[in-house]
Amino acid sequence: MSGFEVRPGTDADRRPLAELFAAVAEERDGIATEPPVDVEAYAARWDLDGCFVADAAGEIVGGINVQVSRHGYGDVGMHVARAWRGRGVGSALMVRAIAWAREEGLHKLSLAVFPHNAAAIALYRKFGFVEEGRRSRHIRRSDGALWDLVDMGLLL
Ligand SMILES: CC(C)(COP(=O)(O)OP(=O)(O)OC[C@H]1O[C@@H](n2cnc3c(N)ncnc32)[C@H](O)[C@@H]1OP(=O)(O)O)[C@@H](O)C(=O)NCCC(=O)NCCS
Repeated sequence: MSGFEVRPGTDADRRPLAELFAAVAEERDGIATEPPVDVEAYAARWDLDGCFVADAAGEIVGGINVQVSRHGYGDVGMHVARAWRGRGVGSALMVRAIAWAREEGLHKLSLAVFPHNAAAIALYRKFGFVEEGRRSRHIRRSDGALWDLVDMGLLL
C-alpha cells in the first residue's frame, strides 16, 4: 500500500467522489448505476457518515460508504479509479470501513455484487464476506439485459 492515504470523507470530497462514481458508471460493468450520472445531485446528497476516501496527493482515487440501517447492519458500496485498481486501494478502504462499522457497534456488513465482478468478489471474500444468496435477473440494464445480483455478508 503506497501513494495514497485513507481518511474520512469531507464536504470538499463530495464533487470528486461524485465525478469518480460517474466515471465508474461509464464503464457499465461493476456498479448498477449507468450513465448519465447527475454529478451535482450526487455530490449534494453524498452521505459522509461512514464514508472514507483514498486520497493520492489530493486526488480522490477511491471511496467507500457504509449506509447504516435501522436494524444493526450496514450496506457497503465502493469504487476505485480504474488507473488505481489492483494496488491495494480497495483493500485499504475495506479495512477502514470494517473498523468503523465495529466501532459503531454494527453486527454485520452486507452488499450486493454482479456475479461477473471477479475483482470485487475476490476482495470481499478476502475479508471474510460469504455468499448468502442470489437475486435472479434482478437489475435491468439500459440495453434491456437482466443481470443477477449476488448477496454477500460479513458478520462482525
Ligand atoms: C472492486 C474494486 C473496488 C477493487 O478495488 P482494488 O483497489 O482494485 O482492490 P485491491 O487492489 O485492494 O485488490 C483486492 C483483492 O481483489 C483481488 N483482485 C483485484 N483485482 C482483481 C481482478 N482483476 N481479478 C480477480 N481478483 C482481483 C485480489 O485478490 C486482491 O487481493 P490481494 O491484494 O490479496 O491480491 C475495484 O475493482 C472497482 O472499483 N471496481 C469498479 C466498481 C465496482 O465494481 N465496485 C464494487 C461494486 S459491488
